[in-house]
Amino acid sequence: MDKTSQYKALDERYFMPAFTRDMALVKGAGSKVWDAEGNEYIDCVAGIAVCSTGHCHPQVVKAICDQAHELIHCSNLYYVPHQGDLAKKLVEITGMQKVFFSNSGAEATDGALKLARVRTGKKKFVAFTHGFHGRTIGSLAVTHKPAIREPFEPLGVKCTFVGYGDLDGLKKAVDADTAGVIVEPIQGEAGVIIPPDNFLTGIREICDKTGSLMIADEVQTGMGRTGKWLAIQHTTVQPDIIMLAKGIASGFPMGALAAREGLEFKKGEHGSTFAGGPLACSAALATIGVIEKILPDISGKGERFRQGLEKYHPRVRGLMMGVTTGDKCPEIQKKCAEQGILVNCAADGNLRLVPPLVITDEEIDRVVRVVNGTLGQVML
Ligand SMILES: Cc1ncc(COP(=O)(O)O)c(C=O)c1O
Repeated sequence: MDKTSQYKALDERYFMPAFTRDMALVKGAGSKVWDAEGNEYIDCVAGIAVCSTGHCHPQVVKAICDQAHELIHCSNLYYVPHQGDLAKKLVEITGMQKVFFSNSGAEATDGALKLARVRTGKKKFVAFTHGFHGRTIGSLAVTHKPAIREPFEPLGVKCTFVGYGDLDGLKKAVDADTAGVIVEPIQGEAGVIIPPDNFLTGIREICDKTGSLMIADEVQTGMGRTGKWLAIQHTTVQPDIIMLAKGIASGFPMGALAAREGLEFKKGEHGSTFAGGPLACSAALATIGVIEKILPDISGKGERFRQGLEKYHPRVRGLMMGVTTGDKCPEIQKKCAEQGILVNCAADGNLRLVPPLVITDEEIDRVVRVVNGTLGQVML
């Protein structure tokens, strides 16, 4: 039995079959990963926009190892090593006033919903069609896709869904009891959908008029992914609450929410055993240190992808890219993997590329060659 089959046999016998998978990745360095059979790939999935600094970046590995030798966990009952420094950095990056940590994007969403409710005294939320905010009971309530949400209803959070980009619909949906409007500045799971220019500004205006909070879910788009620290920074809009996760700590599990002045949890209103622990905070600080240096290059790298894939009209913002491929997407994903390139299918037949932010021009050119060739073969 080869090694991948060994993984498969254990998975099928002991793991709940919620995921679809057929490969085992066992090693990574920079933008490359290797599977259990020793095959090499350029990784344009990057743990779904998570491995921002590439796999096992030496500065991130060192930060985690150094901290692991000192203290792995201590609880939020105490001041936590690196937590304050990271909070300060995130406040600077986001332009918000204070942060709170979590272990994932979904938990950051839950925290944002709690914060919005407790500070506004309002109960309801408005979110957008095809939006994704997580799979906990709270975050699922504001996640649109009926197939993943409806089997778990009732979810206890009343949410109205409005078409992504539809400001008239939003005006009608927001009322005096709307605590917040939650929006991805670019929809990631939906397949890298970039909204019309005035959309985020329009949400801000509607929130200002109604007293509901604008909650920007930057879990996928944040931490430099789009060429700025936050996707919303491509506009002049300042949301009230921002969620981060995925790329924040290069794969060490972590999430965060950041909120403007006047919006904070008071004693006892929120908490977590693990969130903002010493290892996660040291990994995040090291990650930010790496991204700070490469941030100015990210838009150019995205442009290189855009030009390379021009024929297929890619939607590109920094290193977040989507191509409409329809039901051929799984075939394209498989064929690219056979040629040493990992890409992934987001919703609705949208091919998604979210490589490590450290991807080199040479690697981009190779990805472009393979993806173009495969699209040409499969789509035409
Ligand atoms: C925009 C957005 N929000 C929230 C989440 C949930 O994050 P997690 O899977 O870490 O719970 C995701 C995950 O894909 C996401 O893309």
